[in-house]
Amino acid sequence: MNLFSRLKGTALLLGLLLVAPGAAWADVKAPAQPASPTLVAGKPGHAAVASANFIATHAGLEVLAKGGNAFDAAVAVASTLSVVEPESSGLGGGFMAVLRRADDGKEVFIDARETAPAAVQAKDYVNPDGSPNRDTALNGPLSAGIPGAPAGLAWLAEHYGRLPLKTSLAPAIRTAREGFEPDPRLRKAIADRAQIIRRWPASAAKYLPGGQPPAEGRKWRDPDQARTLEALAEHGRDGFYRGPVAEHLVDAVRKAGGRWTLEDLAAYQVKERAPIGVDYRGYHIVTAPPPSSGGVAIAQILNMLAGFDLAHMDGVQRTHYVIEAMRRAFRDHNDYLGDPDFVKMPLDMLLSPYYAAGLSQSILPDRATPSSMLPVTSLFDPGMHTTHFSIIDKDGNMVAVTSTVNYELGSAFVAGDTGVLLNDEMDDFALVPDAPNVYGLLGSKANAPAPGKRMLSSMSPSLVLGKDRCAVIGSPGGSTIITQVLEGILAFIDGEDAAQIAAHKRFHHQFLPDKVFVEDGTFDAATAEGLKRMGYELTPRESWGFMNVVTWDLRSNRLDAASDPRRPSGLGKVQ
Ligand code: DON
Repeated sequence: MNLFSRLKGTALLLGLLLVAPGAAWADVKAPAQPASPTLVAGKPGHAAVASANFIATHAGLEVLAKGGNAFDAAVAVASTLSVVEPESSGLGGGFMAVLRRADDGKEVFIDARETAPAAVQAKDYVNPDGSPNRDTALNGPLSAGIPGAPAGLAWLAEHYGRLPLKTSLAPAIRTAREGFEPDPRLRKAIADRAQIIRRWPASAAKYLPGGQPPAEGRKWRDPDQARTLEALAEHGRDGFYRGPVAEHLVDAVRKAGGRWTLEDLAAYQVKERAPIGVDYRGYHIVTAPPPSSGGVAIAQILNMLAGFDLAHMDGVQRTHYVIEAMRRAFRDHNDYLGDPDFVKMPLDMLLSPYYAAGLSQSILPDRATPSSMLPVTSLFDPGMHTTHFSIIDKDGNMVAVTSTVNYELGSAFVAGDTGVLLNDEMDDFALVPDAPNVYGLLGSKANAPAPGKRMLSSMSPSLVLGKDRCAVIGSPGGSTIITQVLEGILAFIDGEDAAQIAAHKRFHHQFLPDKVFVEDGTFDAATAEGLKRMGYELTPRESWGFMNVVTWDLRSNRLDAASDPRRPSGLGKVQ
């Protein structure tokens, strides 16, 4: 469908849907031409790391102190999170990273996302009555994609780091061997998933020692994962994807009913992709391209908002335009996006400021647009599983990494004595047409499972580059990742510092269900009333992300690091 018919279709559909007497089209200005990317000049002279766990933040600082750069520190943080925050991310999962190398200004997206095994079968995820099988999609070996994280860590070290992989993995190996005190979040995640964990002896042995989650204040060791990390440290990616670890992984998965093969592991490839760049109010945002939907949505939303004078609007009006932009971006997410190696996507159209201006034409100034006649879906509480960390080093290298095993403790399946907890990322595919996934997201054929294909993600690690100020930003939160990162970017551009951005109150709209999810305290009573009068259904929601932000003021060379105050175990630290 060409741009013209798409715009006409949108306007027509919305014109039919909207019956507001006397309603007028919004006065949309011509879209600004994208500015050229910002040059980030200078070096901070010191470093900052913000992650979801203080042990992991310290691992990053330790590797920086050994002469490592931001990318070595990223390997240390990610591998340590695999040990201390397994409910969110780990060796059995995948990650997406946006990085900027200070020397030459290279900006690149590292795609270490999981892939579907070659023997993937759609019928595994459907019950005999045709309904979606939520159990196989979320629990056990059928729910697990081929992990990308170990290959991604080896890639980062080899292509961007200064230190050997072994040195950067050392803090994680030490923590796994010597043990650590699990924080309340990990103990709660294990308790939440205990019933599922009990299904597999290796999972129960690891997470339910003596039949119970690890007790408060007691050291917990992970010698099996330490051995697997050592194999990776010793042999690089082959230490995981070939040889004894690979054989144990495949053996454990197949014995428990999964479909992995040794060839699936050997064939896994990290992909480097061009990030998405978008210019907004004097800043250049560098963010995640497909197979994440995050960057496309963030770019679309910013392009739409560029047509409105948000700074001179009251809270109701401003929020209204932000929600309407979110709604339209998520509609396109459902329709078009998937793995770029498998599907053709109209990215030029989706990312064009002209397309965004066309979408904005359908936003009425004074009322909400009803989402559509598609079936209403339910939005599952995403909890906080998936993790994001941000690093800037003394030379100005920047890295934003969002890493995941998907749902809380992934598939809850530990692959035998490898100590590797497998992801349940298969649920991020549109496994059954028109059935929402655990985050209430719908998808089309573009995101249907296929052998070797990457499932669509919402992960949106992002850099915000300005003349005077830069930020490294990201969050977990399932589908709300996209809107939380967007709101963080807007807050930064409005002048907020790292701590304010991490604490910033949040709201979310994802087209379907047609509701605005709102954190307590986001809107004052008058704003909430104003939004309701415009036709918005405001739905309270308790669980919000775990944002970890580093900012750099280039004028003073000051770095700030902040971890989300909603989760006390995080730590942002300047070295
Ligand atoms: O890649 C994705 O979009 C999801 N697997 C992320 C899951 C997530 O953020 C869970 N929790 N907060």
